[in-house]
Amino acid sequence: MQQAAVGMLLAVIGTLVQQQIVDYRWIALGIVVGGVVGYPMGMWVPMTAMPQRIAISHMFGAMAATLVGVAEYHHLAGQVSPGTMAALGFEVLFGALTVTGSFMAFGKLQEFIPGRPITFRGQNAANGVLFVTAIGLFLYLIARPANPAVFFTMIGLALLIGVSMVLPIGGADMPVVVSLLNSYAGLASAATGFAIGNNVLIICGALDGGSGFLLSILMSKAMNRSFGNVLFGAFGAAPTVAAKAATGLSVRSITAEDAALQLAYASLVIIVPGYGLAVAQAQHQVRELAEQIEKRGGTVKYAIHPVAGRMPGHMNVLLAEANVPYNELYDMEEINGEFERADVALVVGANDVVNPAARNDPSSAIYGMPILNVDRAKRVFVLKRSMNPGFAGIENELFYDEKTSMLFGDAKTSLAKLVTEVKSV
Ligand code: TAP
Repeated sequence: MQQAAVGMLLAVIGTLVQQQIVDYRWIALGIVVGGVVGYPMGMWVPMTAMPQRIAISHMFGAMAATLVGVAEYHHLAGQVSPGTMAALGFEVLFGALTVTGSFMAFGKLQEFIPGRPITFRGQNAANGVLFVTAIGLFLYLIARPANPAVFFTMIGLALLIGVSMVLPIGGADMPVVVSLLNSYAGLASAATGFAIGNNVLIICGALDGGSGFLLSILMSKAMNRSFGNVLFGAFGAAPTVAAKAATGLSVRSITAEDAALQLAYASLVIIVPGYGLAVAQAQHQVRELAEQIEKRGGTVKYAIHPVAGRMPGHMNVLLAEANVPYNELYDMEEINGEFERADVALVVGANDVVNPAARNDPSSAIYGMPILNVDRAKRVFVLKRSMNPGFAGIENELFYDEKTSMLFGDAKTSLAKLVTEVKSV
């Protein structure tokens, strides 16, 4: 990120020496406004709010691309060649739908727009009509570029498409949508590059577009959902269905003292971090606990599920922040075979990614999603605050397993207690 910031600084300086562009006063104002908005966004937004922060950044990026397109169209005033019009049209079309789409994603993640999928009859057909009309106007403009009314109508339609495209998708699937919109913003920037003859924009836009698209596919794959299912499937409603209590099954809870005793004498402990670790900001305590176990001769490994948390790499970033050695982090495929040997699997604020229903229950919403085989460890300790479900809103049979003990409470507090207790064993 620091390299990216240096890159932006170089871009700003590069722009400043291109004297014909604009007046310095506008550039200075841009730097001040950008700094005032950007600094708090970078420094104070918590990690758990990162998906919505990224969504709003995409909105600004796409807005910039769209405004450049509008300015360029205005600037060429009636002299637009069909080739330039194709690039400009593409830029404003994708740019504008990314502006409203990203804003909707931001609203759903921040929860000022309902997170549940908002659907109505004939929705896909209505979206289809909007999209085909916008493409029709785009093609018309390529043939007859000097037509501002059509140009602005197309932008209006694209803004509407952004809203209608994201409405039916549940808040829970927003990270995938944000990543897809990122790729649209990238494509819009590449088109800007073609429109204004800027090779750097073409290269960076194409890179951004390509990587965002790949990331969206990888995220869908890690959740065992097809791309189409994410975009049109209306899964991922905010967990409105309270998990039904598993009848006849009981849950064992454990005290920090007892759990610490077993951790202190374990030879292999596998820690499974999840979204709750991020919520509790317990990354430093988890590292301290691992250090205490290692001091006593135990081995500690971290099992990282590809969609643990709420965004790609969420757990890696959190643990890196607490200086957890990178060689102790293992991907799902690498670690899954080792759970059988583990004396304790310590689940810290993870739920769906350790739910055996994904393997055993074809009727489950997450059936088929690859999971961490925590249930195969000799003992399982789960640190969470209650029996509430995770992101998918479903019951987790792991919590009722005979080998499992629940240590209820905020993950940070529980881990701090475990550290003190392990020290005193
Ligand atoms: P979740 O299934 O969401 O479970 C998180 C658990 O953490 C909850 O059950 C919650 O239980 C607990 N928790 C919350 N705050 C806590 C705190 N302060 N202290 C202790 N526990 C706390 O998380 P997961 O296992 O990481 O799974 C991730 C989910 O997100 C998957 O379903 C995945 O598909 C989805 N998702 C991920 C991504 C990416 S890319 N990572 C993108 C889209 C969707 P309590 O409320 O009882 O404490």
